[in-house]
Amino acid sequence: MHILVTGGAGFIGSHTVDALLKKGHRVRILDNLQPRVHPKGIPSYIPPDAEFVKGDVRERVDWEKALKGIEVVYHLAAYQDYMTDFSTFFHVNAVSPALLLEIIVAKGIPVKKIIFASSQAVYGEGKYRCGTHGDFFPAPRPLAQLERAEWEMRCPACNSEATWQFTDETALSPHTSYAISKYTSELAFINLGRRYGIPTVGLRYSITHGPRNSFYNAYSGICRIFSQRLMNDQAPVVFEDGLQKRDYINVGDIVRANLLALDEPRADWEVFNVGGGKAVSVIEFAHILSRAMGKEIQPLISGEFRFGDTRHTVSDISKLKRLGWEPRVPLEETVRSYVEWLSGQGDARGGFYQDADQEMRRGKIIMKAHRP
Ligand SMILES: NC(=O)c1ccc[n+]([C@@H]2O[C@H](COP(=O)([O-])OP(=O)(O)OC[C@H]3O[C@@H](n4cnc5c(N)ncnc54)[C@H](O)[C@@H]3O)[C@@H](O)[C@H]2O)c1
Repeated sequence: MHILVTGGAGFIGSHTVDALLKKGHRVRILDNLQPRVHPKGIPSYIPPDAEFVKGDVRERVDWEKALKGIEVVYHLAAYQDYMTDFSTFFHVNAVSPALLLEIIVAKGIPVKKIIFASSQAVYGEGKYRCGTHGDFFPAPRPLAQLERAEWEMRCPACNSEATWQFTDETALSPHTSYAISKYTSELAFINLGRRYGIPTVGLRYSITHGPRNSFYNAYSGICRIFSQRLMNDQAPVVFEDGLQKRDYINVGDIVRANLLALDEPRADWEVFNVGGGKAVSVIEFAHILSRAMGKEIQPLISGEFRFGDTRHTVSDISKLKRLGWEPRVPLEETVRSYVEWLSGQGDARGGFYQDADQEMRRGKIIMKAHRP
């Protein structure tokens, strides 16, 4: 098949491109080489067998050029970080699906399927359980609570501490501009796709790791931020108390989910969590990473927090498992492969996290609690 991968120069996109080529598909990439991700231009890992179209998913002419002869689209291009340029998230992440569908419908392009990247971020704080009042989906923790260094979620009915639960696909509560824009893209793809007979599949990835995860963009992704600090013999700075739970997934496992979505008609017009299936605290992650890097540096609990972070977010992956997928790569191996790749990157030590860190402080995204 002739397949278009938007964001195909990026981390997940490029691994998806490799896998599609390996399966014998023809692949075209549409990517604008966003400078924060690719400050040095086109990455050397782009295979010569893939056709590269430099273009922006916000631009009609670029889509029209990229869609010629295309049968399947993987829409992975996105704007993702923690900054306050809210409208950019919507322009890139929410308008581009509408534009893509608009062009397909207007020109009658016979696209057989669109597979698109969403995110675990659409759950916001996810699901919690109170021993007395049962399950609930909390609102984000108010700034005043975070400033008091009260990190855990409390039951809105009795104020007792609640326990996190694995979050399945049913209840959404996006609360960052990135998450809202991703959820909007889901609504467009699933509903307009069904209405116009274009099969669409949404994949809500958990935190994804592996080689090619651009270390230039240090606004998000603890692996890239922590590893750069460790490379410079600095302690990874852990926000809150470091006990926040996350689930992490290897990029190879993500790619297998991307491929499954293409071949599996039961996935059409559905969205699936694609996660590691295991809860790991930020401190545990920091230790796994230091071990992989051979550094005996303890994480630093700074008494700070990042406004907009969730407390615990762990995806329930049973829905995709029912279609025969499951994560295979242990976190230790994922981290090792990232570290190995990173150590072969000449300028990875460059301290890109420092600029990002300062900008997030200026933007009042990283703040200090009064009672660390
Ligand atoms: N990496 C993760 O942990 C993670 C988690 C959940 C969801 N996702 C989603 O997966 C997808 C891929 O993420 P990634 O980690 O590979 O990101 P990435 O930044 O490595 O790749 C994204 C690519 O999109 C391109 N791009 C950005 N804006 C564009 C635009 N306006 N027009 C054309 N191209 C543009 C960038 O140049 C880059 O090559 C994204 O949709 C992201 O939201 C990623």
